[in-house]
Amino acid sequence: MRWGRILLVSLVCLGFPHIDDGIGVPRPAQTATLPGIQSNIPSVYATLAADFPVGAAVWRGALRGPHGELLKKHFNSITAENDMKWEHVEPVEGEFTFGAADELVSFAKANHMLVRGHTLVWHEQNPSWLFKDAQGREMTPTPENKALLLQRLERHVRAVVSHFGTDVYAWDVVNEPIDPGQPDGFRHSAWYRITGTDYIVTAFRVAHEAAPAAKLYINEYGTTNPRKRALLLKLVRKLKSRGVPIYGVGHQMHVNLDYPRASAITKTVHMFAALGMDNQITELDVSVYRNDQQYSSAPAALLVRQGYRYRDLFKCFRKLRGSISAVTFWGLADDRTWLTHYPVDRPNWPLLFDAELQAKPAYWGVVNPRRLPRPN
Ligand code: XIL
Repeated sequence: MRWGRILLVSLVCLGFPHIDDGIGVPRPAQTATLPGIQSNIPSVYATLAADFPVGAAVWRGALRGPHGELLKKHFNSITAENDMKWEHVEPVEGEFTFGAADELVSFAKANHMLVRGHTLVWHEQNPSWLFKDAQGREMTPTPENKALLLQRLERHVRAVVSHFGTDVYAWDVVNEPIDPGQPDGFRHSAWYRITGTDYIVTAFRVAHEAAPAAKLYINEYGTTNPRKRALLLKLVRKLKSRGVPIYGVGHQMHVNLDYPRASAITKTVHMFAALGMDNQITELDVSVYRNDQQYSSAPAALLVRQGYRYRDLFKCFRKLRGSISAVTFWGLADDRTWLTHYPVDRPNWPLLFDAELQAKPAYWGVVNPRRLPRPN
């Protein structure tokens, strides 16, 4: 009887393996049913080797089986999609948990890949203790709370950046500090409400002290928006004039089939380069939606349009070689993308490889646009 139950439980577990995907929703593991990756197509990173490294944001599950093979073949850089964020590496004050991030870094090292660190300071994915005062209440803007929060920030940044040392060549030090909807242009996060812009200066200073060779970025989305861009330029200028060790600007680049135009990206990159900033494309994906549509399966014509869109984006990025030093996709393949939860729950197909890890028109748009199907 007992053995029967154990057998039953084991069969159920084997038949329906579940993995914790790091975004809180256990999903059935599909690896066993996937076909192998295509061995007869060019590597994305090798194709772009003369231009810049090409990365993918990943989680631990992407290191194994066919996902791991796909990652190794096509990418020479990785970013932790979630595993280096504050809530993951310091869930309890002073207790650092680097297990998942270390796995990513070991994989990268074993396979001669670069690692981008993402992200030291953000207004999301923080542990709840971070913004509590000494009495355990939500922090209000007082000089004591400011001192306490900056002290927590300093300790966090020093610990995380020192832990990875030279294994991480670039850090997104501050993520999404700009809000064009505010009269002063800054995102009114708890960071800003309690420390003003001091949190930005402290994070860069401490990251640089802990890893002097690391390239330090401010990372932002919607950087082609003229008002947002002007605000970010102003911030970068101010940081530079204060001697803050900022190396460049990360442009997230969560885009759709039409917006922004490649010409706006070129203009934006030139404007930051003119300030002496490096530029990286840090979170590229191309949503197939423009507004609140929803498709249950990927319309073939849209996937072809996406291929042409990727062609145009990479034409633009490659022309900017020298001003853009890396391009990273926000995911590996369409079986796992944050866009199936954001901005609402719906299927999406934003990457180069489909859910079975096979090359899409998007892949050909990047690697060899002559192989794109005719547009319809
Ligand atoms: C996203 C991850 O992809 C999701 O898994 C997570 O649930 C939320 O964060 N801009 C960023 C990234 O800088 O850190 C975000 O990543 C996507 C938007």
